[in-house]
Amino acid sequence: MTDLFSKFDPLIQQREGLLATGVRDPFSLVMEEVKSPTVAMCNGRETILLGTYNYMGMTFDPDVIDAGKDALDRFGAGTTGSRVLNGTYQGHKLVEEALKDFYAMDHAMVFSTGYQANLGIISTIAGKGDYIILDIDSHASIWDGCKMGDAEVVPFKHNDIEALEKRLKRLPEEAGKLVVLEGVYSMLGDIAPLKEMIAVAKAHGAMVLVDEAHSMGFIGPNGRGVAEEQGVLDDVDFVIGTFSKSVGTVGGFCVSNHPKFEIMRLVCRPYVFTASLPPSVVATAATSIRKLMHAGNKRAHLWENSRRLHAGLKALGFELGTQTPQSAIIAVIMPDLERGAAMWEALLNNGLYVNLARPPATPAGMTLLRCSLCAEHSADQVEDILKRFEAAGRATGIIGG
Ligand SMILES: Cc1ncc(COP(=O)(O)O)c(C=O)c1O
Repeated sequence: MTDLFSKFDPLIQQREGLLATGVRDPFSLVMEEVKSPTVAMCNGRETILLGTYNYMGMTFDPDVIDAGKDALDRFGAGTTGSRVLNGTYQGHKLVEEALKDFYAMDHAMVFSTGYQANLGIISTIAGKGDYIILDIDSHASIWDGCKMGDAEVVPFKHNDIEALEKRLKRLPEEAGKLVVLEGVYSMLGDIAPLKEMIAVAKAHGAMVLVDEAHSMGFIGPNGRGVAEEQGVLDDVDFVIGTFSKSVGTVGGFCVSNHPKFEIMRLVCRPYVFTASLPPSVVATAATSIRKLMHAGNKRAHLWENSRRLHAGLKALGFELGTQTPQSAIIAVIMPDLERGAAMWEALLNNGLYVNLARPPATPAGMTLLRCSLCAEHSADQVEDILKRFEAAGRATGIIGG
C-alpha cells in the first residue's frame, strides 16, 4: 500500500526541523481571550494584535454586536439550509441590500465565505472554451476557482500591464475572456494598476473581475476599493469581497451590474450546495457595511497608522515589501524561514502578534512578517509597536546595532 501521506514528507520534515530549533509553532497560536480589535491574551500575556484583517475594527462595534444578539434571539442560531431552499431569511436579503447601497450596484449575492465567492463565480462564469487571464500572485481561492471550472487558465506576471496585454493578444478574438485581478495583494500589501489593466482588458473584449477583499471599507473615497480609488469601478463587471476583513465577521459576496446576474443563484454550485450564513452573522454584516459607508474619519486614521508604521520600520532598517505604504498591510521581508520564525517569536514574547507568512502563500519564496493595521490602533500603540520591532530586530540580528 502506498501511504497517501508520503507526499507531505518534505513539509513534515521542514516543520520538524523548524520546531527542533526550539521556536514556538508559528501556525498554531491560540488567543485565549480577545479584549478589543487590537488586544488579546496569548500564552497568558496581553498582546497587541498586528496580524488580523480587522482593518476597520468592526468586530467590537457596539451596534454590530447588538444587531447580532438581536438576530440570534429572533431567528435562532442557524438556517440549516441552502440559500435556494430554506436558507434565505430576511437578514440575507437585508445584507444584500446593504451591499448594493454600499457599492451603488444593481446586484449582490452573498456566499458563506469569500473563498466560496471566488470559487463559485469564477468557475461558473468562465466555462469550456473560455479563457481566464489572471495575475500569477492571485489568492488561492482564485486559483481554486479556476481549477474547479473548465476554462483555459492563462497566468501573467504580477502587476505587469504589458504581460497582460501580450497574453490577451494571443487569444482567439471571439473567445469568452475573464481577466481576474485583486485590488490589494495581501502578501506584500501592494496595489494593482487597475486603471491601466482594466483598459487593456476591455480593449481586448474581456470581462473583468476584481477581488477587493483587502481594500473594501478602507481604500477609495467611499471604501469601495482600489477600483473606486482609481476611478474605474464602473468598468469592473464583478467585484468579489469578504465579510471576514473590514466588515468584521464572516461571509463572502459578489456585486455586479450585469443585467443577467441573478441567474447565478441557480447555476453557481458553491452558492447552491451549501448552508447559508447564520442570521446573527448576516445581521452583523449588514450593520457593519452600513456603518462603513460613513467611516471617512476611520479611513483617514488607518492611513495615518499605515504611513507611521511604514516610515518607522524603514527608519529602523527593516526591508519592506513596498517602497511606500499602499494599503493597511506592511510586509517585513525576513532573510529566511528560521530567522523569520525567531523574529516572530521574539515579537510574540514581547507582546506583539504579527503574521509569519512563507511559501507557497508568499511570492518569490519569501518569508514575511506581515503586519496589518487597524483603524482602532492609536498613534501611541503604533509607536509602541515600533519599539517592540526594534528590540526584537536587534535581539535576532535582523537589524544591526
Ligand atoms: C484576496 C482574497 N480573496 C478571498 C479571500 C477569502 O476570504 P474569506 O476569508 O472570506 O474566505 C481572502 C482571504 O484571505 C483573500 O485574501
